[in-house]
Amino acid sequence: MRASGKITGVKGMNDLLPSHKQPELRTARWQEMERVAREVFHLYGYREVRTPAVEHAALFARGVGETTDIVQKEMYVFEDKGEELLCLRPEATAGLVRTYIEHGLHVEGLQKWFLIGPMFRRERPQKGRYRQFHQMDIECFGAAEPAIDVEQIAMLDDFLSRLGVRAELKINSVGDATCRPAYLEDLRGWLRARAALLCDDCRERTERNPLRVLDCKNPACQPVLAEAPRLIDRLCDGCRTHFDAVKAGLDALGVAFTVDPRLVRGLDYYVRTAFEFSSTALGAQSAVAGGGRYDGLVETLGGPPTPAIGFALGEERLALILESIGRETPEPRPEVFFVSADEAGAREALRRAGQLRKAGIACELDPRGGKIARQFKHAERVRARYAVVLGGNEAASGQAKLKDLETREETPIALDDLAARLTGNRPA
Ligand code: HAM
Repeated sequence: MRASGKITGVKGMNDLLPSHKQPELRTARWQEMERVAREVFHLYGYREVRTPAVEHAALFARGVGETTDIVQKEMYVFEDKGEELLCLRPEATAGLVRTYIEHGLHVEGLQKWFLIGPMFRRERPQKGRYRQFHQMDIECFGAAEPAIDVEQIAMLDDFLSRLGVRAELKINSVGDATCRPAYLEDLRGWLRARAALLCDDCRERTERNPLRVLDCKNPACQPVLAEAPRLIDRLCDGCRTHFDAVKAGLDALGVAFTVDPRLVRGLDYYVRTAFEFSSTALGAQSAVAGGGRYDGLVETLGGPPTPAIGFALGEERLALILESIGRETPEPRPEVFFVSADEAGAREALRRAGQLRKAGIACELDPRGGKIARQFKHAERVRARYAVVLGGNEAASGQAKLKDLETREETPIALDDLAARLTGNRPA
């Protein structure tokens, strides 16, 4: 808000507009991303799910983890008169697990879901980091086998390639309840012994959530952390076999990756496979998508033991990448613009526009009527392909001229033939 009394949008939350000054916030760009996503997700058998943006705050404390930044600092929590604390969802996974349990879907076998929608985190806004942002979230419940890890990662890779995006894939194994606890204790001891060389954040995380220390971006901590003991060297047999199978599966599908033993994710529910796609086009907030396996979460939230894996992709970040690689945005545009010369023409324009729209041809007219030159300006602004001027004469004779607004060429046309002519003009 501003002191002048003018109410502005909330910091870190964006408007999407057909012709936003920032091209990554243009609606057409988002429609294309979501159209391709739906196409690809369907190809792999994922079905759309929509859940509320508001959930009980306790869901994320239990699900994402009490010690995570998301739960400790970033949730928008509020009290609903006399009820429990509610919050705006900071991510989709915990809510989808809640849905899975609440609707008893384990009895139906494997569930493959996607959700597209807004998430909310009270982070410090900067390029690629917002307080309301949008995720395309994918989850599969009911498969413990590495084949599903491989297939999901390959699907994400496929989706990005279809949009012309080259992003770097990093994978890791974060172990499980068998191998991780002993490692975490060793890591904590190792970090405590080097506390003086580490930043305040690292020192605090050493106690709270030592795995997250490995994710520190502070350059001063890097040489120290590079020497830290690696969980990947201590995996139990089950985790090792699983990780080897994921790597072999990705190789077999030709999906390029690097193993990053320091890849840890900001949410506590992960076990075994963790992965991230990042792009240098994004600057500091380089992760465009990330996810992993979370075999214990359904049980933690009160459901039956259910292996699960998923990921989420940030739409704002993907849109930024698409801008940086100069991918054209397919802007919708009318085929015909009817310009009316008088009242009889305006009536005829409405009638003819109705006919064309029934035939599936996009057309517009200026409902304000007025000067012909102004109507032509409007036609150009909406990037119409053709214009047809209609007045009393044209309405009476059924004959008019079709003006190509790119070449300025005019061709006589019988108004009854317009639909056939324009359908014929369309690229096959
Ligand atoms: P996440 O890594 O927290 O994972 O978020 C996934 C993606 O959402 C990030 O890679 C980024 O592109 C985008 N994102 C996150 N925070 C912001 C923000 N403040 N502004 C803009 N974009 C953002 C999850 O949320 C997990 N639920 C993913 C998952 C699904 N794991 C298993 N299933």
